[in-house]
Amino acid sequence: MITGKYPALRLRRNRKFDWTRRLLRENDLSSNDLILPIFLTDGKNKTTKISNMPGVCRYSVDKLPKIIDNALKNKIPMIALFPETNKNKKNSLGTEALNENNLVCQAIRRIKNKFKNEIGIMTDVALDPYTSHGHDGILKENNILNDETIDILVKQSLLQAQMGCDVIAPSDMMDGRIGSIRKELDKKKFTNVQLLSYAVKYASNFYGPFREAVGSKTYLKGDKKTYQMDFSNSDEAIREVALDIKEGADIVMVKPGMPYLDIINAIKNKFKIPVFAYQVSGEYSLIKNGIQKKIINENAIIESLLSFKRAGANAIVTYFANEVANKLN
Ligand code: PBG
Repeated sequence: MITGKYPALRLRRNRKFDWTRRLLRENDLSSNDLILPIFLTDGKNKTTKISNMPGVCRYSVDKLPKIIDNALKNKIPMIALFPETNKNKKNSLGTEALNENNLVCQAIRRIKNKFKNEIGIMTDVALDPYTSHGHDGILKENNILNDETIDILVKQSLLQAQMGCDVIAPSDMMDGRIGSIRKELDKKKFTNVQLLSYAVKYASNFYGPFREAVGSKTYLKGDKKTYQMDFSNSDEAIREVALDIKEGADIVMVKPGMPYLDIINAIKNKFKIPVFAYQVSGEYSLIKNGIQKKIINENAIIESLLSFKRAGANAIVTYFANEVANKLN
């Protein structure tokens, strides 16, 4: 018998009932932590399915009021817009990105007009939905041109700000774009627009379903390894974040999510700034498929999202946002 002797401390005591587990819980997940990505498509009254993302659809802009109503009901603070661009609007320079009537611009105007500041709008800054080669920047002889791309990204950011976007999120990984965008926004008096830098974005194998969703998958030539980060590296992530803070980022993103919890944790501990995580499309598909095939239990969703909170993320971009918020509320 060991009663009264070792172990005097039994950690299982604090876990004996649900009430004590709730009481001693170190991290919590609420709908305030969730950002809902929304895919946009051309047309009217249209909803299209994305084959590898069950439960996620693309919507035409006229469908947005209903989608936003639902997000508000679920107490989701912000949505993120991603366009599927018709192939006849794609070209090598991605000029559709600068069209004030492109899907993202239409969507921002529509949402701001109806919902004012009830919900935050975040938009992606990068050229990949718009280029005929599927890259985030200008391609010249197998090289993505950095500074020439930034010139376009600055214009894309300004346009999104003019439309009423709240949070500009460059996901392109060009060097120096945060500083250039911040400078232009300040010059044009958009001093209140937040910059959420995808400071740490890896050249990941988990983006497949997203590329299908925005229609860049079949066009992509080669890979994005000369601008997105090598997944073997973590010191480099710290350097990326340090630079973006200096250039004027308000929030930084780590992407993908679950394979990079160490990076989220390291950045949070070192810089004490808001850090967001992106649970990307491949992560979503794997979990969703696992649940649908009854390989894993649906509580795996909450478990995955809590791991981001534990690591130090302040919020998570996730295709599960509605489903989870609904459950949590
Ligand atoms: C591109 C962009 C990507 C994602 C968001 N913005 C894909 C890429 O870099 O190829 C991926 C998101 C996801 O997989 O859910 N600027």
